[in-house]
Amino acid sequence: MMSNVREILITREELNKKVKELGAIISKDYKGQELMLIGVLKGGFVFLADLIREITIDIDLDFMSVSSYGSSTKSSGVVRIIKDIETNIQEKHILIVEDIVDTGLTINYLKGIIMARGPKSVKVCAMLDKPSKRKTNIELDYKGIEIPDEFVIGYGLDYDGKFRNLPDLCILDSVAYQK
Ligand code: IMP
Repeated sequence: MMSNVREILITREELNKKVKELGAIISKDYKGQELMLIGVLKGGFVFLADLIREITIDIDLDFMSVSSYGSSTKSSGVVRIIKDIETNIQEKHILIVEDIVDTGLTINYLKGIIMARGPKSVKVCAMLDKPSKRKTNIELDYKGIEIPDEFVIGYGLDYDGKFRNLPDLCILDSVAYQK
């Protein structure tokens, strides 16, 4: 498994520190409000699991699953909902929790769908931000760590379905795919 890793980009300790900071800010900002987190599967599940344990206010939780790249490392721009949320969100403040924002197409699309359902507010929290290939002007309300334009794996992120279980965020070795 490690033969596909070029290098560690962000260690588990650095990730953990940033998640703690985000959890504290979110807890403060939403104090006294009805907050529901919507986790974006599959990549966001590790971040989400860490983040909710750093949030000190009551929260609701639901999930959406969308398809992104298939087995490629480049965004197709085509977003397909595989699993939708099961909750009525009209009286809630929504925070969409994403693993990584690259072109921004996925989160832009998701935010649009959720806003159309009439919640009190919709904000976005992304652990990783890869701004160099952005194709939308989506605002990241809560942002973890900005990273360079490399294809990363681990901490929930996959390449072709694998490597989600690496505890550190790593750069995929380019011999593993055709750029
Ligand atoms: P976007 O629509 O281009 O912003 O891409 C968002 C989705 O693509 C993320 O939710 C990830 O699932 C996937 N993605 C983007 N960059 C990477 C990466 O470097 N490694 C693994 N998945 C990625």
